[in-house]
Amino acid sequence: MTIASSPVPNLTAVRAAAGFLADETAPTIEAGFEFLFTRSLEFRQETIYFIIVDRFHDGNPDNNAGPNPQLFDPTRQHWGKYWGGDLQGIVDKLDYLKALGVTAIWVSPLFEQVEDLQFDRAAMHGYWTKDFKRINPRFLGRDEDNSLFSCTVFDTLITEMHKRGMKLILDIVCNHSSPDVNGHKGELYDNGQLIADFYNDVNHWYHHNPEITDWNNPEQILYYELSGLATFNESNPDYRNYIKTAIKQWLDRGVDALRVDTVKHMPLWFWQEFMADIQTHKPSVFAFGEWGFSKPQDRQSTHFANRSGMSILDFGLCDAIREVLAWDAPGGFERVQAIFDQDHVYDTASELVTFVDNHDMPRFLSLNPDGDRLRLAVGLIMTCRGIPCIYYGTEQYLYDNTHGGNDPYNRPMMTRWDTDTPLFKDIQQFSKLRRLNPAVSLGSQQQKYVSADVFCYVRRYRDSRCFVAMNKGNPITINIPQTDLQDGEYFCMVTKRRFEVQQGALRGLSLGHHEMIVLSNIGDRVKGTTIVRAQLNGVSTQMGESIVVVGDCPELGNWDIAKAYPLEYINPNTWFGEIPFTASAGKAITYKYAIQREGQAPVYEDLVCRRWILAASGTVKWKDSWSRV
Ligand code: NOJ
Ligand code: CA
Repeated sequence: MTIASSPVPNLTAVRAAAGFLADETAPTIEAGFEFLFTRSLEFRQETIYFIIVDRFHDGNPDNNAGPNPQLFDPTRQHWGKYWGGDLQGIVDKLDYLKALGVTAIWVSPLFEQVEDLQFDRAAMHGYWTKDFKRINPRFLGRDEDNSLFSCTVFDTLITEMHKRGMKLILDIVCNHSSPDVNGHKGELYDNGQLIADFYNDVNHWYHHNPEITDWNNPEQILYYELSGLATFNESNPDYRNYIKTAIKQWLDRGVDALRVDTVKHMPLWFWQEFMADIQTHKPSVFAFGEWGFSKPQDRQSTHFANRSGMSILDFGLCDAIREVLAWDAPGGFERVQAIFDQDHVYDTASELVTFVDNHDMPRFLSLNPDGDRLRLAVGLIMTCRGIPCIYYGTEQYLYDNTHGGNDPYNRPMMTRWDTDTPLFKDIQQFSKLRRLNPAVSLGSQQQKYVSADVFCYVRRYRDSRCFVAMNKGNPITINIPQTDLQDGEYFCMVTKRRFEVQQGALRGLSLGHHEMIVLSNIGDRVKGTTIVRAQLNGVSTQMGESIVVVGDCPELGNWDIAKAYPLEYINPNTWFGEIPFTASAGKAITYKYAIQREGQAPVYEDLVCRRWILAASGTVKWKDSWSRV
């Protein structure tokens, strides 16, 4: 499609080419046109909270018996059964979560599940789906129709969340349906109609391979079964249409973002097609995948993060934080810094979803019951690069140590709703910091002091700064000769202690045992009718070189390189900047990137130009790769 001939494109033609019908119910031209100028929702200032729906809060006891009452345990002694949590329970606690500072909730899968026990365990977790177009009736009101087309407490949840400015993240599973449960396996329904059955797979919806035994064999990882779960055959277009249609229906109902299960068990081409279709349908969707045990040294996981159209959960950082703060592993914080030193392997390290525990590993407190250590771990993910995800109950120091706190004992019922715990207060403050200080959500991260026990770093973006120091060992006094903070007086938002920065230095910085210091300075925000968040990857710059964006509009210097818009260095793979557009908002523009060096000719990208149609208002993301051999 060529759209560049006039500054104001023919939107009707563009819409027609994109398959939009000219009917009266069609969205406005602007809205339908979005897919051309928007790329995924900006999620970096969010604070995510991950809820296992059955274990959060029972807002409606009427639904507890469910279709098969034997799967429900009212005594909450039997960890494999349902305990009564539901969507009404989340609605009831939205004000609590809002007060905590939660801005996005990841709910465990809501799809209708196999209603039976396998080895004494029910599908309370939501990963044994029977019907991707229906909601688990145990999470709804007793008489509510669970097909996706009826209005239920699910819609109330979305409405109430959106009213509070919160986003809903749905956990989706494309790799598999259900394991063998009492002789039934992979019986799959399409809004109530049986469409596939693993044991009578006439239409080839499933792979029929043994379980994965060799985790170094790529073939096994992609096409064999994970724990006996019926594994979908992605080569079957009927399967792909089914799953994509189902997920689009959830998005149409108001879901804002997706957490995607078991991404390493399906081929990359599947995910690329999936994300292409999903983001054409709803351009703003942010998604992050679970690539089990991803780490920066694992090229397959980083390639996935860079090429799939979705981000990933940062297992590498999670492991390092647990090793250092829960186990006092040798090297201490050097291990955490070693992870950040690899950030350049990701195109967008600032969108990795960070965490310190989840439903598949013992909670942090099961490894080390010291709540102050957990505070440091949470403080770290709330202030370092990435989008933090808090596992439900962390703010209440929730954990159960039975069998080392492994699954299912890492999924206890929430029992306390205390809004005064130290962790509750920390999360509340750090969430505010993330929303207000762009250095924390968007900026670079530079280590300023690291030893086994002490870790200091600064986040910076334009004239905003956030300096963080933490000490897991004995009291110590250190000097930070260059904090990158402006000179002046600062108050730590955690301890309320006062600090003086002189000539950029923090001298005689005393840090008590388990103390964390956070000094924030918020500069001017970029203002414009349309803000482009421009990111350039893959450019190798030397000391003294910088990147600019130059183009055919006044905001980009009208091709005058002296007036081009400068980006900021984030890491050796990433330059970033927010570019304000006002005169050119709503217009088609052309641009390219260039390297500027003091006293030398600029080096331009080796291409004619890049083209973009700017949204009339709002925020837009560009994710470009340097083009020059
Ligand atoms: C990863 C999920 O986090 C886990 O809880 C689940 O059992 C497996 N994927 C299989 O769906
Ligand atoms: Ca209930």
